[in-house]
Amino acid sequence: MVITRPDTPKPWINYLSNNVYHALVSQTGGGYSYYKDSKLHRILHWENHLSDRPGRYLFIKDQDSKTIWTPNWQPLCQPLEQWQALHGLGYTSLQSLENGVETNITYFVPPRDPCEIWLVKMKNRSDQHRSLTLYPYAHWLLGDYYLEQNYKNIMTLYNEGNYDEKNNAIIAFKHPSSARPYTSYGFFASSVKPRGYELSYKKFIGQYGSLSHPALLDHETCSNRSVRGEEMISLMQIPLTLRPQQEITLVFVLGFTEDKKQISKIIRRNILPEKASRLLEETKTYWRKKLDTVQVKTPDPKFDFMTNHWGQYQLLQITRWRSASYYVPGEGGRGFRDTAQDVEGVVSIDPKLALEWLKKLLSHQYASGHAVSGFSDIEGPWETGKDPKILGKSDMAVWIPTIISTYIQETGDTSLLKLKIPFLDQGQGTVWDHCRRAMDHLWKQRGRRGLPLFWKADWNDALDQCGLKGKGESVWLAMAYGKALLETEILATIAGNIPQARKMRKRYEKLRKIINQTAWDGDWYVRLFTDSGKTVGSKSCKEGKIYLNTQSWAILSGVAPELRAEKSLKAVAKYLETDFGPALFSPAYQSYDPHIGRITSFAPGTKENAAIFSHAAAFLVVALAMLKKGKQAYELFSKIAPTNPCKTEEIYQAEPYVYAEYCYGPAHDQFGQGAFSWNTGTASWMFMAATQWILGVRPTIRGLLMDPCVPPHWSVFSMKRSFRGAVYNIRFKNPNHVSSGVAEIRLNGKKMKGNLIPAMPKGGVYDVEVVMG
Ligand code: GLC
Repeated sequence: MVITRPDTPKPWINYLSNNVYHALVSQTGGGYSYYKDSKLHRILHWENHLSDRPGRYLFIKDQDSKTIWTPNWQPLCQPLEQWQALHGLGYTSLQSLENGVETNITYFVPPRDPCEIWLVKMKNRSDQHRSLTLYPYAHWLLGDYYLEQNYKNIMTLYNEGNYDEKNNAIIAFKHPSSARPYTSYGFFASSVKPRGYELSYKKFIGQYGSLSHPALLDHETCSNRSVRGEEMISLMQIPLTLRPQQEITLVFVLGFTEDKKQISKIIRRNILPEKASRLLEETKTYWRKKLDTVQVKTPDPKFDFMTNHWGQYQLLQITRWRSASYYVPGEGGRGFRDTAQDVEGVVSIDPKLALEWLKKLLSHQYASGHAVSGFSDIEGPWETGKDPKILGKSDMAVWIPTIISTYIQETGDTSLLKLKIPFLDQGQGTVWDHCRRAMDHLWKQRGRRGLPLFWKADWNDALDQCGLKGKGESVWLAMAYGKALLETEILATIAGNIPQARKMRKRYEKLRKIINQTAWDGDWYVRLFTDSGKTVGSKSCKEGKIYLNTQSWAILSGVAPELRAEKSLKAVAKYLETDFGPALFSPAYQSYDPHIGRITSFAPGTKENAAIFSHAAAFLVVALAMLKKGKQAYELFSKIAPTNPCKTEEIYQAEPYVYAEYCYGPAHDQFGQGAFSWNTGTASWMFMAATQWILGVRPTIRGLLMDPCVPPHWSVFSMKRSFRGAVYNIRFKNPNHVSSGVAEIRLNGKKMKGNLIPAMPKGGVYDVEVVMG
C-alpha cells in the first residue's frame, strides 16, 4: 500500500509482529511496540492518535549547512522534497529525498526474536561530499502502560539506562517494584559505533522543549552518561560522510527481553546489514506463503484486494495480537468473544494458530459452562469468580460450539472432541464436555420469557445496564444460542451421540418458537427486554426502534420463517441502510438512559450508538448469502470494505486498506468517517463472507461444499484453497448469469454427484470445475 502524503487524515498504520513482539507503525514511523502483553510489557512510549508521536525516528543534520530534517516527516513536520511510505505485508518502508540525500528506512519484526529492525539505506544523490550526523531516536516506556499513565513521575524513578560498549547498544530497564514485579530490559543497538549517546529525554528536548525542536540537535552535545530515575530515550549520534552517489546501509535493532543474557545474542543475530536484509526477505516470504493458503480471483479487484491481501493479513495479525490498537491502547489481554470470532475465520488459513487459541479459550471457561469475558496470557482473566451475576457478560459460552465445529469441519480431526482441557476454576473436561456445558449453562440462564438473560452485555458491550438485575432478556443471544445449538447438534452427530444431538435439536426448536412468539414486532425482531420489562428495538420506542443484529441473526440462526426474514430485511433497507452500510440501529439515542446503558451516552452516530458498525454489517452479508441474495450480499460487502468509493480520503479518513470498527452514522455530522481501525471482528466475518458464503466454498465434515452465491454478472471466478493437506484449484463458471445454484461439478475432469468434494489424499493438487446454473 503506497501512501503519498505524510499528513494522512488519521494515522494509517501497519501491524508488524511475530509470536512475541508486536509493533504498531504508522506511515511516519509513529506508534509503539510491546512484548507479549500490550499493557504489562509496553516497550515504547506513544501519546495518542492525534499527535501520532513519538515514533521510531531518524534525525539527520547536514554538518555544512546545519540543516536538520527527519526523513519520517514527523516529528519536525517540515516539507520534504520527496516522501513516500509503503505499508507491505510484514514491513513498512519510508522513502524520502531531502537536501540531496535519499533515505530509505524499512521497519520490520523478524520471524523469531523479540525485536524490531530498522534497516536504513542512505544514498548521496548530490555531486558533493556530504558530512552528516544521524540521530536515531526512540522513547522508552518499558513497563505497565496503566501505571505509567497514572503514576508517571513515580514510575520514572524506577528507570535505569546504560550504554553497552561491546554491543553498541543502549540498555534500558525498569527496576522491579511491588506494582510491577517483573525484570525486563529494552535495548537499542546500532550496526555502527556511535560517537555519542543520550538516554535522558530532558537533555534531548530541553526543559519546556518539544520534539518539534529538540534542544540537543542545536548544541549537539550528547551527555554520554547513564541515567537513573529519569524519563528515558535512546538517541545515538552517528557521524557519516558520503561521497557523491555513495550508498550505505545501517541497522538498528530495538528489542525487549526478560533475560539479560539474551540481549547480546539477539543483537548479534540481527544487527549485521546482510543478516538484517536476509531476515527482511524471510519475513516477506513468510507472509507471502501464509496468505497463499486461500486466494480468490474474481472480476472485482477490490474484493480480491481485501480477501487475498489486507483483510486476510489483518485477520492473521489481530488473531495474534488483539490486545491493543491505536484507539484502545492499553487494555492488555484480549476479549473472549473477539478471539472466538477470529478463530472461526482464521481456521482455514492457519488451523494450527486457530487450535492454539481454541485451547486457550476453553481453558478460560468455568466448569459451570460460562466463561470469562477476556484474559491476558500473563496476568490471567479479566475478572474472577464463576457466578454470572458477578461476571456480567452473558454471551461468552455461546461462541464455544462454533469454534469447535469450525475447527473440526476444516481439519476433519474429530479426535479434538476427546481432548481434555482444564476448566478455569475446577477440574477438566473433554472438548465435547466444554461444548455441552456451554449449551447447558445458557439453557439454565433463561428468564421469564424463556430467552437468555442479558446481564451486563451480550454481543453489544455498551448495552450494559439493561439486565443487571438478572431479569432482562436478550433476543440476539437467543438467536446466537439457537445457532450454537445447531453447531452442537452437528458435533454430537459427528461423535455418534444421538441422544445429545436430539436434545440440542429439541432445545433449538423450543427456542425458535419462543423467539417467534415473544420477539416479533410486526415488521422486525426486537432487540431485548430490560430488567423493568421495557422492550428495546421496537416500534414503540422513540429511539433505538430497529436494531440490525436481531434481523441478521434471525437468518443466521434459521429462526426466522421466510416471510419474516423478508419483511425484516425490508425494514433494514428502509430504516438502516446507507451508502456506507446499515447502521447498527436507528434512531440514535440522544441522552443517557440509565436503564439501557452507556450506549445512550456515546455521541449519536458513533461507536455502538447507531454507527455503521462494520462487524454487525458483515453478519448481514453472510445472512444475505444464506438467503441466496448474491447481488445484495456482494453489494453490501463492497460497501463495508474500505475500498468503497464513497469512502473518500476526505470523508472516511481511516486506512483505505483495512477494516475499521465503524463508520460514523447518519446521526453524526461527520457521517462516513472511519474509526477504530484494525482490531475488529469485521476482518474475520468479511473473510468468511467472501470465501465461504459469496464464493461459497465451505468445509463440512464430509468434504468441501460448493455453494456459490455471487452477483449474477460474475461469469468466471476462482479460488485456490488448501483443505486437509491438499490443494484445490476451483474454477467457477456462470454461463447463465445466475446468482446461486450448481449445475455441475467436476473433480479432475470427472463429473461428481451433488455439490460436495470429498477430502482427497494429502499432498495432491486437484482441479475442481463448478458450473453454476
Ligand atoms: C467491540 C468489541 C466486541 C463487541 C463490539 C460491540 O468491537 O471488541 O467484542 O462485540 O464492540 O459492542
